[in-house]
Amino acid sequence: MAKTEIYYVSGTGNSLVIARGIAEQLEGEAIPIASFVDRERIVSDASVIGITFPVYYADLPNIVRRFAERLDAEDGAYVFAVATYGGAAGASLDTLDRILRSRGRPLLAGFGVHMPQNAFHKWWEIKRWVYRLAERRTRFVVRSVIARRRGLHYANLPLQVVLSAFHGWLRRMTALHLEEVAGIPSPSGLDVEGLIPLTDRAFSVNDRCTGCGICAQVCPAANIEIVDERPAWLGHCENCLACVNWCPQDAIRGGIVRGAYRYRHPGVTLGEMVVRHRSKV
Ligand SMILES: Cc1cc2nc3c(=O)[nH]c(=O)nc-3n(C[C@H](O)[C@H](O)[C@H](O)COP(=O)(O)O)c2cc1C
Repeated sequence: MAKTEIYYVSGTGNSLVIARGIAEQLEGEAIPIASFVDRERIVSDASVIGITFPVYYADLPNIVRRFAERLDAEDGAYVFAVATYGGAAGASLDTLDRILRSRGRPLLAGFGVHMPQNAFHKWWEIKRWVYRLAERRTRFVVRSVIARRRGLHYANLPLQVVLSAFHGWLRRMTALHLEEVAGIPSPSGLDVEGLIPLTDRAFSVNDRCTGCGICAQVCPAANIEIVDERPAWLGHCENCLACVNWCPQDAIRGGIVRGAYRYRHPGVTLGEMVVRHRSKV
């Protein structure tokens, strides 16, 4: 079997489950991108490299952009990506391709996998059906990787086409929303990428917080420190909502979170979410 590495980032477990499923079926390794946040270069000698991530604001998460900018893959490696999302992949796979291409390794294949929406409640969503379809989709991705299939394979093309037509407008609206969330006067001159890290200004904890530190342990961006038994956010947030959704006391409020909706993939344990930083590749 070809050496296979499936890199992933995940706030609430969806992308982790997909990455784990692909890695198991290809007899490869699932590796958290979060374990490389402080590395200048990421060198891979794998001949199959997968990158699995959640879509944020119809595009690629900042942490995946930085990962792709630092990834050194072998000549001839088959590099593919899997975007998980509640609606559509948006521009995420194209953005990843553009970054990888600038490093001399284009994205050879991209796949969309529909998963439960983790940022807000969709009353019509029946999660166990979504999981079942995602398992089927994962097997399609695995077959495609074995066949070294190329190109972009979206799960819901009509929505993808509509979103593509409005992408610029959507991102401008998102920027306005994030300025409001972060409490920054508009127009700030910052785009969505620049605003996302600042959205943690809106997080706070209520008095249910016990200072257990789980929020800091699950944060893929190493963006939380425990100070005086309370989380302090450091201004380089990814907006992944791991801190909010893994808090055992449900004590974290604010940010883009509205209402009582909380989400975690039921097949993922807290232990799997805890980020361990790699000292070497
Ligand atoms: C900040 C944020 C922005 C999101 N934006 C989108 C989006 O633009 N389109 C979409 O389909 N899903 C969006 N989602 C939903 C996630 O992409 C989706 O639920 C994903 O599977 C979560 O993966 P994870 O559990 O691995 O973090 C967003 C989620 C968050 C937290």
